[in-house]
Formats: sequence, structure tokens, C-alpha cells
Amino acid sequence: MRHSAVSKISSAQGRKPAFQPIGDPISIEEFAADVRRGLTKDGQKELYSKYLYDDVGSALFDVITTLPEYGLFRADARLLRRHSASLAAAVGRPSLVIELGSGSGSKTRWILSELAVKQPIAYCPVDISEAALHRCWLELGYIDSVSIIPIAQSYLDGMDQALRLRPAGTSVLVLFLGSTIGNFDPDRAREFLTAVRHALEPGDVFYLSTDLEKDLNRMIAAYDDPIGATAAFNLNLLARINRDLGGNFDLSQFRHEARYDTRAHRIEMHLRSTRNQSVSVGKDLAVRFKRGETIWTESSYKFQRHDIRELAHATGFKCQAQWVDEEWPFAQSVLRVL
Ligand SMILES: C[S@@+](CC[C@H](N)C(=O)[O-])C[C@H]1O[C@@H](n2cnc3c(N)ncnc32)[C@H](O)[C@@H]1O
Repeated sequence: MRHSAVSKISSAQGRKPAFQPIGDPISIEEFAADVRRGLTKDGQKELYSKYLYDDVGSALFDVITTLPEYGLFRADARLLRRHSASLAAAVGRPSLVIELGSGSGSKTRWILSELAVKQPIAYCPVDISEAALHRCWLELGYIDSVSIIPIAQSYLDGMDQALRLRPAGTSVLVLFLGSTIGNFDPDRAREFLTAVRHALEPGDVFYLSTDLEKDLNRMIAAYDDPIGATAAFNLNLLARINRDLGGNFDLSQFRHEARYDTRAHRIEMHLRSTRNQSVSVGKDLAVRFKRGETIWTESSYKFQRHDIRELAHATGFKCQAQWVDEEWPFAQSVLRVL
């Protein structure tokens, strides 16, 4: 349904070919099973952060990226603009660029434009949100010598699909921007980089953005802004459960919360129940919440520069260069496959 609606918009705008992402992101059964598991587990209730990004969530995320408090987006953009030429030189002549969790891809235009000067480029944004991919396709569809092949799939499956498009004997650039790696706990981040490393070939480059640890107030404000955009983004997860799984969450009885765990070096987003209540999801799931109990919806780990170099080394990459934004401490690292 969503897919054909998107295609209609595209053809109405006269764009050829129509928006046709490859892949099949998340089934309703998988979403229902994850919600059941997360809300009925002993101890801390939790929901996977990937479910924050339905059509509404992706649109709200785009709003968040424009907020003065969300400095990491602009730091990432500044670094990409400033260092695109050096990055292009570091990767040589890739004919395939893959972006994991691309979102609307708005920061990627500088590096694509830089690379496409030398030769035609295939660009594969990989994202579970079709709405985000559609915006990406609209945003980057005009760059000369760049053909876009959107892949609606999870990170690693999507990357595997994209890698099948590699022309023999050429190198690949994989982008992972927005400090999205911070959504993984340290063990998963290491497993993830190891899996990326195994899928790539010597000479390929993985370009990784990471938000660096900084003043507590600045970090918290980025996830708890005064106009409530991040709160809406977080609460939309409950609204999504209501819409897609027949839940009856009363959103006015949950409150957005962002806190920093100084020992784990992570922002945690939670939804706090403001009273004792029972919520049903579909016909056969009932969940009780105590007043004050929370659902943990997202982690955003913060890094030191050396963390990335160590992670790279431990997972079979060489950190060839690292660029840091001083205005909003943030790093981009060029990780080359050895
Ligand atoms: C924090 S946003 C970053 C977006 C963009 N890269 C940026 O820098 O602004 C994370 C993006 O990853 C996507 N995403 C989340 N979990 C995913 C998963 N498991 N597989 C693929 N995409 C995912 C979301 O839909 C969202 O567009």
C-alpha cells in the first residue's frame, strides 16, 4: 500500500524511473513478536529503536536534525563538506557507494558529487524506512552521473544485496553516518563492524561517524529539546503500536525522558508511565505498567577518538584518517579494509 502510494507521487512529479526500492524491510509479524518480547520481559521493558522509524517517525527525525540542540547533524555535515575531497582521494575510484541507515541522505551529496566527477557512481542507500528512502531518492536523484538504487532492508542484509552490484575489480565505499553506530551496545558494535569487514574486500573503505562525549547539558538537550520534537519522535513508537498492531496506549499517560549514564557513556531514551495502568496490544497481549516504570527505547553511545581507532583495529580495519569537528565534538573516521 505504502509502496504504491509512493510510486504514484513519483510518477505524478514526472520522475523516471519511479521510486522502486529493492527489498522487504520489516513484516508486521516480526514487529508484533518484538513488541511482545520487549514488553513482557522480566525487569526493564524495552523496544528496539529501529521501530522509531515508520513514516511519521522518519519525518519527525528530519525535524530533529534541524533543531539547534541537535548539533551532531550539523557537525557531521560540516565534516563531510570540508573533507569530501580528501575522502574521495583516500578511497581512490569506487564505482559503488553504499550508505547504511541513509535516512534522507541529505549530507551525502558532497561526497557523491566529488566521486562522480571522476566516473559514474551507483549509490545504494539502505534503510528500513521506505519514507526515508523516498526522501533520499528525491534529494539525491538530480546529481549528474549518480544512479540511485534504494534498498529497503536492514543494514547487513541490505549491504549484502548492494555488494552484488559491485563491478568486478572495483572498490566500494560504505558510509555509516549520523553516529548511528551509537545505537548499538559495545558488543554489538564490534560484531557489526566485524560483519561489515567480512563482507568487504581489501581496499574498500568504511566511513564511520561518531558523536564524541561532551558537556552533559549539550548531550541531554540534543535528545530532550524544548519544543518537544524528540518527545514526539519517542512517543510515536507507542502510536505506531496503536496504529499497526491494534494497541490502546494512552499517549498522555507516558512521558519522554532522556538521561545520561556516565559509566556506560550513553544517552538513554525512555517512555515513563505516569500512573499504574494496563495496556492491550491486539487481542492477546495485555501489559501492566507500574507508575514510574519505563520502556527503554533507544541508546546513543558517546565515544572518545581512541575508541574508534581501537574498534577499527580489533575488527580488521586500519583507521587511515580521522577528522574532528571542534564546534560540536564529533569524529569521522576513514577505516580501510586491510
Ligand atoms: C539516526 S538515523 C540517521 C539517519 C542519517 N544517516 C543521518 O545521518 O541523519 C538512523 C537511520 O537508520 C535507519 N535504521 C534504523 N535501524 C535500522 C536497521 N536495523 N536497518 C536499516 N536501517 C535502519 C532509520 O530508519 C534511520 O533512517
